[in-house]
Amino acid sequence: MNTKALTAIAAVLVFPVAAMAGPDEDNLVINDELDMTSVTEAQAHLENLDTIYSGWHFRTDETQALQIDDFDNPAMIFVDQAADLFETVDGAAGKSCSSCHDGVESFKGLQASMPKVDAETGKLVVMEDLINACRTEHMEADAWKWSGGDMQGMVALIGLQSRGMPMNVAIDGDAAPYWEQGKEMYYTRYGQLELSCANCHEDNWGNMIRADHLSQGMINGFPTYRLKQAKLISRHNRFRGCIRDTRAETFAEGSDEFRALELYVASRGNGLSVETPAVRQ
Ligand code: HEC
Ligand code: HEC
Repeated sequence: MNTKALTAIAAVLVFPVAAMAGPDEDNLVINDELDMTSVTEAQAHLENLDTIYSGWHFRTDETQALQIDDFDNPAMIFVDQAADLFETVDGAAGKSCSSCHDGVESFKGLQASMPKVDAETGKLVVMEDLINACRTEHMEADAWKWSGGDMQGMVALIGLQSRGMPMNVAIDGDAAPYWEQGKEMYYTRYGQLELSCANCHEDNWGNMIRADHLSQGMINGFPTYRLKQAKLISRHNRFRGCIRDTRAETFAEGSDEFRALELYVASRGNGLSVETPAVRQ
């Protein structure tokens, strides 16, 4: 089948006109006390949206309920396991994370500024890079697999320390070229379906795509616990899945392309509260 035909099919299957259903108007309050900013004004660098919404607003009441109480949030099992790992000695240097870091609470605020440019190397780094650098260089232990349970549990535990704080990634200075690269990727049409991230998450958010209610594709709640997969999903894993759905070859988790895309997507959510770990369908 040629590309044109597939695109036509996609147009029919993907965005049925009658299915428009915007974000709901519920308030996201966690544990009855932590009032989250899950809807806010878009920053000026986000040219095509006025208001930004957390993906939580597009989920069913049942899925939403799992995120508003830590006792019900299935991601917390993995966060607890990571808290144990933080204290566990591993590697030739005979150290645990807590040998050098004064409790995981010392990372409060870090997630809100990630990804960021490493001042020494000039490279864009994401949370997984910071953790693996400590494992390999400071602990002399093996790097963790990007989307593995240990890594994403630790990314979630560190992210949780910033829950409720507004996302505020820097996009200027050293970060500017990476941000431009990520932005270009966001508007590139991928695959046989010729769909960009923007086609779905900017032009069609609020619409139904098959059985799914399309959100704005924010990453302020990552890693998220996906009920379908019964585990924590990394940001790069989600990007890969979305690109694969357009029937395109995709980039690898931990690739420089996905680091740049992560910075750009994070910046679209600047102002939304860090929700880590969120729960999704
Ligand atoms: C031997 C000491 C040591 C151990 C063990 C260690 N770290 Fe680190 N960590 C550091 C130092 C020093 C830095 C500052 C950056 C650098 O020099 O690498 C750092 C930086 C970090 C950062 C970035 C903080 C920031 O504000 O940018 C994170 C996150 C982190 N470590 C997590 C961990 C985790 C998780 C573990 C266990 C898996 C761990 N570290 C084990 C010494 C250590
Ligand atoms: C064919 C449409 C489509 C395209 C193209 C697409 N996505 Fe998605 N995406 C979805 C659907 C459907 C979901 C699940 C429902 C939702 O959360 O919006 C989703 C979910 C997401 C989420 C999770 C949001 C949350 O709150 O959990 C992120 C992040 C995301 N997409 C990013 C991207 C990025 C980045 C691109 C481009 C590389 C992209 N998507 C391309 C359809 C698409």
